[in-house]
Parts: sequence; structure tokens; C-alpha cells
Amino acid sequence: MNEIFGKVDDYIKDLLAPEDDALKNTIKSLDAEGIPQISVSANQGKFLQVMMRSVQAKRVLELGTLGGYSTIWMARALPADGKVITVEYSKHHAAVAKINIEAAGVSDKVEVITGKAIDALEKLVADKAAPFDFIFIDADKPPYPEYFNYAIQLSRPGTMIICDNVIREGSVMDDNNTEERVVGVRRLNKMLNGDERITATIIQTVGAKEHDGMVLAVVN
Ligand code: SAH
Ligand code: DHB
Ligand code: MG
Repeated sequence: MNEIFGKVDDYIKDLLAPEDDALKNTIKSLDAEGIPQISVSANQGKFLQVMMRSVQAKRVLELGTLGGYSTIWMARALPADGKVITVEYSKHHAAVAKINIEAAGVSDKVEVITGKAIDALEKLVADKAAPFDFIFIDADKPPYPEYFNYAIQLSRPGTMIICDNVIREGSVMDDNNTEERVVGVRRLNKMLNGDERITATIIQTVGAKEHDGMVLAVVN
């Protein structure tokens, strides 16, 4: 990572996205539990909050909880009667996340579903769940297009859908790169081309984490 991107990320974080003990301890819990450090950065957590507030999000769906770091950021941007439903396949990650979410004081606003994202999505559609205002897709990368199609089924016009890790240091542009995680997000990015269900763009993300990108899509 270019040194200046990290320094500027710290500068913005200190100004606008300082972490309290609950967020710091969530990051520490990942090392303690042997869970990878692949949470969003603090500034990306704040970015999710800003995007949530811009659509006045009350009902939020997250795919991929890990230790609950992004979940805590999002839960904290909800109104009193808001809810984040977050889906995590790993029982270990879900258990650690629940402890972190409790310690952050937002467990009344968060429901952790332990299971495969695709099963949870299918069930939400079958149960005719009320539409979500904001959906953050950040679970396993190969089925990203399928997750996105379900997300649209669970949305209304104006719902914002954000998908993490869709640039992978530019490797998505290299069609010879056949890594599963790259193929999945490349498939999603191509699907968005000319997709009239949404108004979408991709922003590049630099900073504390490796160069990557997020899809920002608003449902038409
Ligand atoms: N959103 C988190 C990071 C998520 S990392 C944050 O920013 O703090 C991706 C997570 O997706 C991992 O915890 C992984 O266990 C989980 N995952 C992988 N496959 C999954 C699946 N099929 N369904 C749901 N979660 C899955
Ligand atoms: C990985 C997953 C993520 O969601 C992320 O933000 C960074 C890395 C990974 O699986 O390598
Ligand atoms: Mg991610």
C-alpha cells in the first residue's frame, strides 16, 4: 500500500471515525480468536453510516458478519427502532460477533443469523420479509451476482446496496485471473453493466486496507 494512503486514512479516521473501546476490542478479538483481519476499515465503517443516513435506513441486511465490526458501525447509525439482520456462516465467527455486539451495546438492534447467506436470502424471500432500506454484501465472493439478485428481490425503489471487495487491486480487469474470489466479483461487475434495475457505480477504496472497491447501487 502506498504510504500516503495509509497516512491520510489515519488522518481522516482521527478526525471523523475514531474507534471507541468496543470497536477496538472487536478488532483485537479477531487476533485472539484466530479470525482473519478482513473487517472494513474504520473510515469504511463511517462511510457505511453516512450512506445509511442518506437513505434513512431503518432495516439493514448484511451478508458476512465476521467479528461484527461493520455490524456495530451500522447498528450505531440506526434510529431507535431500527434493525440490522446479519448473516454469518461460521459458527465461531458468529459467536465472537455476538459477544462484540453485546459489548458495543447494540444487541437489541442486531439479529445474527448463523447459516449460509444463500439459505437466509431464500428464506427471507419465501417469508415475504419487508423490504430492506440498506444491504451490505460482504460474505464469500463467488456467489456475489446471486446475492445481488436476491438483494434486489428484498428491496424497494431507493434501497441502497453496497458490495465490498469488487476491485481486488485491479485483478478483476485481468480475465486471465481465475481465482474464485476474483471471478465472482468480476461476474457481478459485468452483470451491473446495462442493468436497468439499478443506478450503480464502483468506487475505488484505498487506505488502511489493500486497494479494492465497493459497488454502490440504488434500486430504481
Ligand atoms: N462484514 C465484516 C467482514 C466480513 S468477512 C466486517 O467488515 O466486519 C466475510 C465473512 O463472510 C466471514 O466471516 C465468512 O465466514 C463469512 N462467510 C463466508 N461464506 C459465507 C456464506 N456462504 N454465508 C454467509 N457468510 C459467509
Ligand atoms: C477478504 C474478504 C473481505 O470481505 C475483505 O474485505 C477482504 C478480504 C478475503 O476473503 O480475503
Ligand atoms: Mg469485505
